[in-house]
Amino acid sequence: MTDAKRTATLNIEGKELELPIYSPSAGPDVLDITKLYAQGKVFTYDPGFTSTASCDSTITFIDGGEGKLQYRGYSIEDLAEKSHYLEVCYLLLYGDLPSKEQQTEFEDRITGHTLLHDQMQHLFRGFRRDAHPMSIMCGVVGALSAFYHDSTDITDINQRELASIRMIAKIPTIAAHAYKYSIGQPFVCPRNDLDYASNFLRMCFAVPTEKYEVNPVLAKAMDRIFTLHADHEQNASTSTVRLAGSSGANPFACIAAGIACLWGPAHGGANEAALQMLHEIGTVDRIPEFVARAKDKNDPFRLMGFGHRVYKNFDPRAKVMKESADEVLELLGIEDNETLKVAKELERIALEDEYFIEKKLYPNVDFYSGIILSAMGFPTSMFTPVFALSRTVGWISQWKEMITDPKLKIGRPRQLYTGAVDRVYTDVENRLPTEKYLKFNGGS
Ligand code: CMC
Repeated sequence: MTDAKRTATLNIEGKELELPIYSPSAGPDVLDITKLYAQGKVFTYDPGFTSTASCDSTITFIDGGEGKLQYRGYSIEDLAEKSHYLEVCYLLLYGDLPSKEQQTEFEDRITGHTLLHDQMQHLFRGFRRDAHPMSIMCGVVGALSAFYHDSTDITDINQRELASIRMIAKIPTIAAHAYKYSIGQPFVCPRNDLDYASNFLRMCFAVPTEKYEVNPVLAKAMDRIFTLHADHEQNASTSTVRLAGSSGANPFACIAAGIACLWGPAHGGANEAALQMLHEIGTVDRIPEFVARAKDKNDPFRLMGFGHRVYKNFDPRAKVMKESADEVLELLGIEDNETLKVAKELERIALEDEYFIEKKLYPNVDFYSGIILSAMGFPTSMFTPVFALSRTVGWISQWKEMITDPKLKIGRPRQLYTGAVDRVYTDVENRLPTEKYLKFNGGS
């Protein structure tokens, strides 16, 4: 961050406060309000953090108006076309693209850590068979801190490094095991002669009784899905990882917190919700009914896979993902599928509809990723785990950046309190029944 060369003046009932203005290397200027409470005795109010920069960062830049996404200054389009996921991981973690030697060494380090501690098998088996793979991932990733004690000391740079490598290496194994467990098939061990994406596909789809050949087009599409989801600056799950980490929690616990946040349908859960919605719509003739519901202010229904907090023009990831979707569907010869017809028609209608144009609601990355993953053979419940796998490098890079930031403080937002104050406690015998108590017949 550069030193403030300009200030903004805030007048609070006649008292003037000078707020420093910082200029980033790209993006809007920011007002420094850190001394606002001390000097002005007021808080700022910004539910959903729509106007709040929570940290300095050098990792990812988004220009929502222009539909721009860059990792460490490189455009997502270039990286998706010319790079591959593990190179992108190196870039996000260390700031620059690796030399040939560095790339080989980094990839060897990752492949050397893909196995899980053998005792972790018991942990998987403790879950119900019908558990959602995301619930298994939350639990198992959190539990890594119980298995890898030598990488939980956040004050030790070597331990932080080891934790980062372990997270990136083990997360595909964890996601694939969660899937295998849910369908009652034996776990497939990682194979270190395969690239990252091929290895994941094999761990998900191979069975011990048959030979499994990884299809290179599917492996390329998988790698692209990983690359496009690798980081996305201070989104909800990344901010969750940072907030958890700001207390000094170990990295595995922080990533588990990020996975929990990602699960929600407004965030990473949208790819699962989008495909479920396409199935619910079922046939092209029912689309107008759902579009009308999405526009109805009294109906909470939203078109899943449409809209974005930051991208108000188009989602650059969606453009690349659409190309991949076309390639994969052509390869697999499933262009004629009913769900796909619904998806294509919905995309067309929404892009031409006044409501969606006016509100700048475009198909986002999750609209297309669900279509590809489904074509590859993943059930909808695995869509968000694939997103979590891809985003792990982003979370760990942002966590590492935060830990070494000299300005690090525990995250502690304030509030606009609107509740009761100074009530007098009465004994239970003298109280009337409260209307707010919700009676329900819950499960066991
Ligand atoms: N369908 C119908 N209307 C919508 C939609 C939608 N998908 N998204 C936003 N709107 C409307 C919303 O009702 C509101 O209307 P009004 O101004 O009349 O009240 C207006 O557009 C602005 O919506 P908002 O909720 O204030 O916008 P936001 O920036 O807070 O929300 C969002 C962004 C992604 C949560 C939202 O667009 C949404 O719920 N989309 C569906 C879920 C989805 O696809 N999420 C994946 C995001 S991409 C993956 C990721 O990065 O996590």
